[in-house]
Amino acid sequence: MIIAIDGPAASGKGTLAKRLAAHFGLPHLDTGMLYRGVARQMLDEGARLDDVDAAAGFALSFEPGLIDDERLRGREMGEAASVVAAHPPVRAALLALQRAFAEQPGGAVLDGRDIGTVICPGADIKLFVTATPEVRARRRALELAGRGEPVDEAAILLDIRQRDARDSQRDAAPLVKADDAVVIDTSALDVAGVVASALAIIEGKR
Ligand code: C5P
Repeated sequence: MIIAIDGPAASGKGTLAKRLAAHFGLPHLDTGMLYRGVARQMLDEGARLDDVDAAAGFALSFEPGLIDDERLRGREMGEAASVVAAHPPVRAALLALQRAFAEQPGGAVLDGRDIGTVICPGADIKLFVTATPEVRARRRALELAGRGEPVDEAAILLDIRQRDARDSQRDAAPLVKADDAVVIDTSALDVAGVVASALAIIEGKR
């Protein structure tokens, strides 16, 4: 069973993906980490994020072990990732790795922006997880506060709106719901509610 989960930043898709993977005993790939990893390598090497050829080179030699790097988390890396993710050769270079992960025996859970549309168009289950920008900003703020980090909720909201715009308006694999994906609006749900909705959808499809 391949479960494809897409949605905007801080929608709750990552948490849902982890829970579903644990529930079904499937491996999970957070595909945002691939783009974050490419961006991190470029910054470490002093490359410019808008240098398409350099970005493609880093993506082609991407080592999956890089995604364990703690430095990939955080708002700045999300922004940087969304810049390199708009370069078509970067997406092309990371495609085979993602497909191979999805096609493991037994299946897998992948979450990102284009899993149901580009990476796994034939996925058994496609979920599109969303929430209002305000709710997503509030969640991010609480998460940062919980880690003892400084919180500027207005800046977080602005960042979320900018990232939504960049991810939805780019030409290469924009963030868009697959025709056959089921929407879960998590604005008024807690984690247990989101997981229960997803499980009900999955059971209904099997
Ligand atoms: O999900 P996350 O916030 O880690 O993703 C960081 C950025 O990577 C996104 O804003 C998006 O631009 C890009 N991305 C993508 N396609 C994916 C996953 C992430 O373009 N499948």
